[in-house]
Amino acid sequence: MGPKNRAINKTMDDKNQSGPEDDTEEKHLFFDLRPRNFSEYIGQKQVVETLQIAVEATGKRQDVLDHVLLYGPPGLGKTTMAHIISNELDVPLIHTSGPALEKGGDLISILTHIKHGNVLFIDEIHRLPKVVEEFLYSAMEDYAVDIIFDKGMNARSYRAKLDQFTLVGATTRAGLLSPPLRERFGIQRSLDFYSEEDIQFVIQRSAAILNVEIECDAAREIARRARGTPRIANQLLRRVRDYAQVRADGRITVEVSREALALEGIDEMGLNLLDVRFLKIIIDFYNGGPAGLEAIAATMQEEPDTLIDMVEPFLLKAGLLVRTSSGRKATELAYRHLRKTGRATSSGQLKLPAI
Ligand code: ADE
Repeated sequence: MGPKNRAINKTMDDKNQSGPEDDTEEKHLFFDLRPRNFSEYIGQKQVVETLQIAVEATGKRQDVLDHVLLYGPPGLGKTTMAHIISNELDVPLIHTSGPALEKGGDLISILTHIKHGNVLFIDEIHRLPKVVEEFLYSAMEDYAVDIIFDKGMNARSYRAKLDQFTLVGATTRAGLLSPPLRERFGIQRSLDFYSEEDIQFVIQRSAAILNVEIECDAAREIARRARGTPRIANQLLRRVRDYAQVRADGRITVEVSREALALEGIDEMGLNLLDVRFLKIIIDFYNGGPAGLEAIAATMQEEPDTLIDMVEPFLLKAGLLVRTSSGRKATELAYRHLRKTGRATSSGQLKLPAI
């Protein structure tokens, strides 16, 4: 890959690439746990069904699919869905990301090489620099980019026509997209946390691909702690599989799962060490809140973005945290879960923070 297209992480989807170069890659592809088509996809029923209809209709009309925006917390399958869309359309996928596109030229060089009907996937599209984003407006709407040569008096503009393409944008923060960009996506879908039952199915499917024996109750046990997120479910499954191979006979039982997950620092609700630290800081340091996110992040020595993307969505969903106009508050459930006592009132009674 030359320096000019360093913004492209992967030029084609796996099926369009030449064969695996070595044994490791072959194994990687073989053991890839992500579904490759809509029929293999578990959960997100409404999103899958509506996208499937749009893709099928596009095929029937021999048309180009509308631009698609996928948003939701990390690990729920936005990238997977983009690859499924390209597989189902039977077109190549060009994969890049907002931060990789630093200059207008980075995007223009990708757009001018895109072929009719191809999918351009931009991950973390909310991190696209403004100067790059502005080229996308006409590219998405008119399939053209206006290239400016020279500056000041000598400035000249040249409109380059592009082949029609489908932009699939993914973001964890739809709210950060500017209205002109957001409005240009004809299809906008939000991915939500999965039910425990769906996560259990994901785990059972993955265990079958990894060729590891797992008890039904063990899959449920891992699912309970996977925070409604397939990526986490698959990570936990791999760790439990390791533990089962080293400390047991290779079979994943409920007991093996519990022991392995306890060793990983994953608690009964699926909270990891970072989640627990976050809640404990609000409770111990800020008396349960309200506390500003910046202040919490500074106390934890973490980036606010990490907390917004990786920690808060699940804690909010699980009812352990609330967001108020004056800041974040730990809920009564968080106090109970972490076995924390509330503040004592002047009458000596325990007072949990009001929500
Ligand atoms: N692996 C990861 N996510 C999945 C999903 N939604 N369905 C099936 N397998 C998966």
